[in-house]
This record gives sequence, C-alpha cells and structure tokens, in this order.
Amino acid sequence: MFVKWVKLKNFRNYTDASVEFHSGINLISGGNGQGKTNLVESMMLCALSKSPRTSHDEDMKMENTTFTEASVCVERNFGDITLDCRIDESGKKFFINTNEIKKVSELFGNLVAVYFSPNDLKIVYASPSERRDFMDTDISELSGSYYSLVQRYNKVLFQRNRILKTIHNRQDILDQIDVWNEQLATLAGYIIKTRKNFIEKLKTPAKKIMKYISKETEELNISYVGANGETADEIKKEILKSLEFNIDRDMELGYTSIGPHRDDVKFELDGRDARIFASQGQQRSIVLALKIAELTVFKEELGENPVLILDDVFSELDTARQKKLYDMFDGYQVIMTGTNFKFKPNSSYKQLNVRKATIKSKDFVISNN
Ligand SMILES: Nc1ncnc2c1ncn2[C@@H]1O[C@H](COP(=O)(O)OP(=O)(O)O)[C@@H](O)[C@H]1O
Ligand SMILES: [Mg+2]
Repeated sequence: MFVKWVKLKNFRNYTDASVEFHSGINLISGGNGQGKTNLVESMMLCALSKSPRTSHDEDMKMENTTFTEASVCVERNFGDITLDCRIDESGKKFFINTNEIKKVSELFGNLVAVYFSPNDLKIVYASPSERRDFMDTDISELSGSYYSLVQRYNKVLFQRNRILKTIHNRQDILDQIDVWNEQLATLAGYIIKTRKNFIEKLKTPAKKIMKYISKETEELNISYVGANGETADEIKKEILKSLEFNIDRDMELGYTSIGPHRDDVKFELDGRDARIFASQGQQRSIVLALKIAELTVFKEELGENPVLILDDVFSELDTARQKKLYDMFDGYQVIMTGTNFKFKPNSSYKQLNVRKATIKSKDFVISNN
C-alpha cells in the first residue's frame, strides 16, 4: 500500500495544504520548525487514531481555530481508501470513505504504517511502559480486535484495583475479587499470547537486520518478559495462580501487581542488557532493526507492503548505513523527513521541501538501464 495524498485544514501550522506522494521514496526536507513532523504526524493520526507525539488532540488544531481536518488517501491492492479525521468542539471523529466510524478499532488496518522518530529510542532505554506501549500500538495497527482486547483488560483491571483500594476487610475483598480474577486472567491470556507471537515473529528478522546495518557484529536478542505458557489458556492459568498467590501483596499495595500491564520486552546485545549497556548509536540501530523487521512481519500478515515513515532518523545515520537502508527499501513506500539529505537514493524518488508550511515538490526519475 502507499499514501497517495494528504490534505490538511488548520492542522498545526498548515492552514490549507494538499500534498501528493511518490509510491517509492519521498524525502521531506526543510529547516527546523517548518512543518515536516506535523505533516507525518497527520498521517499517523489517521493510522493510529492518535498522534504519536501528543495525547492532547487539541494540540493538533491550529492555534485560534475551532476545528482541524486531516485526510489521507491510501492506495491498497484492492482499491483506494480515504481516511478523514476531524477534531472540533464536539471531539474527534474518523471517517472511512466519508462514512463515520462507530468504534475507533474500525480504523486500524486501513493505513498500516511503521513509524520511527527519535522519541522511539525510548523503546530501548526508558521504562517498561514504553516497551508495552510499543507492542500495543504496533499490534493494534494490524488488529482492531487486539486494541479492543487491551481496552477491555484495562476496564477489568480498573474494577479489580478499585476493590483493592476501597475495601479494607480481607474477607470482603476475597468474596468480591474472584469474578474479576477470572475475567482478568482470561483477557491477560489472550494479550500475552498475542504479544509473545509478535515478539517471536520480530526476533529473527530484527537480528538479521541488526547485523546488516550495524558496523559492529553484535547479536541482538529480543524476548518477552511475562507469564509462562505457550497457549492463551496455559497463560491464563499461570496468571490466575499468580493473582491468587499475590493477593496479600496486592491488598497492601492497593493495586494489581502482576499481569500484562507490568510485563516487559528484553533487548540484549551479545547477552548484555541493551537498556543499560547500549550506546546511543547502538540504541538507534536496535530500534531501526526492530522497525524494519516490523515491515517484513506486517507485510506477511497483510499480504501487501506497509508504509515506512522515518521522522528525523535517516539523516542522523552515516552514509554507509544510509546506503544499506536504501537497498532494503525496495518495493516499499518510504516517507522520511530530515534537515537535508546528502545521500540520495539510486531509484526514482520525490523531494518535498517544507518552508513555513508551504510545500514545494520535485520528482526525480532515475532509470536503471
Ligand atoms: N497547534 C498549532 N498551531 C499552529 N502552529 C503550530 C501548532 N503546533 C505546532 N505549530 C508550529 O509548527 C512548527 C513545528 O513544526 P514541526 O513539523 O514540528 O517542525 P519540523 O519541520 O522541525 O519537524 C512550529 O513552528 C510550531 O510553532
Ligand atoms: Mg521535526
């Protein structure tokens, strides 16, 4: 699939913009603060239902305006899809081919884009919640039902925690918590199973890509850290046992201390914890390897190519790595931003220059013979 065009109204610093993209490589250049990230943010809003950089939808509305609209047209192998997002006083709404959707989960799977910005280095070095968010966001892109599953889990978790927080008599807690334990463990079983599958699929391609793009030859290992078990049912039983085993601790804490909301992903370079030992350059390579591995995993699941969006990542790499990456991008639409691109692709591409929210574009046709 590829993004054919994007149209924006009152979106951040864009009053009214319309941009067409190449089905291959798109280089979006321009100085700082001109509107490069804003442009790719609008695409991710239509892919994820939320901005990758703010949890306040209002931030995307141009200052002193009452609404914003972002529209993205995606060419899929079965035809075009137009996704629209409108944010105004009444909230945020999404439309697929002009029909308003009832549940956010319906949006997922239409524009499937792998997104990487410098902020994503957090996936390696920051707290486990960043790694859980990475899994949940990226799995949801392909599966609206996974997104709904996580939402249901969070609701049940909230109910269980409410009991732990508000009731002080041990027996009363035990009487009421059983029904929530059962529901929580069932949902946890499915969530953990899905996340384990995802990590399992990413592991081997990520290891290969890491070797290919890094000058070093470190071995990257990725593993899920959470309840044991192969099937959702085995995991459910493990979780149920742990919930019962840890009940006194949970009562003392006033919240649920085990489950997928506490799990983690471990990144190891040559057997050492990357969170502690990896340099910034290595962290960037790890996330890059992870994201490119996602491209191949998504491609397999979808039966067509997802889009790759790199915000301010590519120009930070040395030319040897840039060259290797261009070779890997063959067949994918890649939309990337940077202050300048010294090293150009050796296939046809589009150059878009952003200056104060005005975009000038130029196509470069390169023939291979
Ligand atoms: N809600 C908004 N309304 C108007 N302008 C905004 C809004 N949010 C951000 N901006 C402006 O957008 C610009 C930053 O755009 P951005 O795409 O992040 O730049 P870059 O090209 O460096 O990626 C800044 O000039 C900022 O003032
Ligand atoms: Mg930027």
